[in-house]
Amino acid sequence: MELPFAEAWKIKMVEPIKKSTREQREKWLNEAHQNVFMLKSDYVYGDESYGGARSFYHMKDTITELTGFEYVIPTHQGRAAENVLFSYLVKPGLVVPGNAHFDTTKGHIESRKAFAIDVTVPEAYDTQLEVPFKGNVSLEKLEKVLQENKGNVPFMVLTVTNNTVGGQPVSMKNIRETCELCHKYGVPVNIDSARFIENAYFIKTREEGYADKTLREIALEMFSYADSMTMSAKKDGLVNMGGFIATNKKDWYEGAKLFCIPFEGFLTYGGMNGRDMDALAVGLKENIEFEMVETRIKQVHYLAKKLDEYGIPYQRPAGGHAIFVDADKVLTQIPKEEFPAQTLTCELYLEAGIRACEIGYVLADRDPVTRQNRFGGNDFVRLCIPRRVYTNNHMDVIAAALKNVYDRRDSIKRGLEITWEAELMRHFTCQFKRLG
Ligand SMILES: Cc1ncc(COP(=O)(O)O)c(C=O)c1O
Repeated sequence: MELPFAEAWKIKMVEPIKKSTREQREKWLNEAHQNVFMLKSDYVYGDESYGGARSFYHMKDTITELTGFEYVIPTHQGRAAENVLFSYLVKPGLVVPGNAHFDTTKGHIESRKAFAIDVTVPEAYDTQLEVPFKGNVSLEKLEKVLQENKGNVPFMVLTVTNNTVGGQPVSMKNIRETCELCHKYGVPVNIDSARFIENAYFIKTREEGYADKTLREIALEMFSYADSMTMSAKKDGLVNMGGFIATNKKDWYEGAKLFCIPFEGFLTYGGMNGRDMDALAVGLKENIEFEMVETRIKQVHYLAKKLDEYGIPYQRPAGGHAIFVDADKVLTQIPKEEFPAQTLTCELYLEAGIRACEIGYVLADRDPVTRQNRFGGNDFVRLCIPRRVYTNNHMDVIAAALKNVYDRRDSIKRGLEITWEAELMRHFTCQFKRLG
C-alpha cells in the first residue's frame, strides 16, 4: 500500500478546549454588542487568537495594577504609541511643551507641523553640576509656554527618566507640581514612561520621604498625578519589542483607538503577538522589584566610576540607563558645526567596535522654521547599557576603549560634514564625510 501523505511535522503542545453553553454564548455575544471581534478568545471554541486573547488581558491587568490606568492600547513599540495618540491630539500650529522630548516624540510633533518646546531645568545643560534631579521641568519655563499659548496646548509630555539630557530622573515633587500647573491651565499631562521604574528607583534613593516606599507605590503615585502614559516597553518592560498607551481619559481612549486599528492592529494586540504581551506582563512585574533595578543601575554607575578614574567628562551624576559622555568637553578643538559627539562615536567604534549613539547636535535636527542646526543643547555620546546582558568585565572594556580615544584626543583635529540628511529625525539615516 502506498503510504498516505502526512504533515512534515509533529505536534507537541496540548491545550484543553473549553466548551460553552448556548446560554453563555447568548450572554457573551450581547456583551460584545453582536460583534464577534469583541469577544474574549476564551469564549471562542478552541481559539487563542489576537482578538481578545488571554495574553492581552494579562498584560492589560498588569499595566492597570502598576499604573492605575484603566484603558490600555497596545502598540508594537513606543513611537507607535506616540503615533496613535498624537494622531488624535496633535494638529498643525499646536504647541506641546516637554522636558527635552525624545527624538521620536519630537518627530511626531514636528511632522504634524506643531511645535515641541523644551522646558527642562537649566541645570541639565551644565554637565558637571551634581544635582539629584536634572531631568526636572522648569515650572517657570512651562508656565510661560502655557500662558503664551492658551487654548493651543493639547497636552504636555513629561519624560521619565529624561533620556535626552542624560537619563536624568524627575523628582516626585516636580512631577506633582508640573501636573498641577498644567491642570490649572486645563492641559493634560502624558508621561513618556520608557524608564518609569528607573525613575521610581531614583525617587526612592534620592528624594526625601520615599526611602521606605516600594517602587510599586512610587510608580503608582507618579502616574496618579498624570492623565496618560506612552510606553516603549523595550526598556523597563524587559521585552524585545512592544509598547502601549494607557489612560483613564475615556475620550482619549475612544479617540486614539480609531488610529490603532489602521496603524497597529486590533485593540487587543496592536502589533504585538500573544507571547510578547504575556512576556511584557511578566517583565514589568519582575523589573519593578528593587533588587532588579538596583543591580542594573549599579552596573551603569560602575562604568561611571571607571570614567572618573580616567578623567573622562560625562553628564553628572550618572543616570539610570547609560553614561552620556560630554563630547564638547572631550573634542574641544572640533567646532559644533563639525559634530564633536558624532565624531567621537565614530572614533570609539574604530577603536574597539563599540557602537554608542550620538544624542547631540545631529539628533537635535534643524529648527523647523529657520532650518538652522539646533546647537543649543548638550552634545553627548551615549553609552547605553542593555539590561541583563553584560557583566562588569564588559564595562571595563568599554571604559578602556574610551580611555584610549580620550588619551589621543588632541590628534583628532577635524570632525564630520553632513553630505545627506533627512528633513526629520535625520540621525538615523544621515550620511557624513570625514574632514581633514
Ligand atoms: C523616552 C523615550 N520615549 C520614546 C521612545 C521610543 O520608543 P521605541 O524605540 O520603542 O519606539 C524611546 C526609545 O528609546 C525613549 O527612550
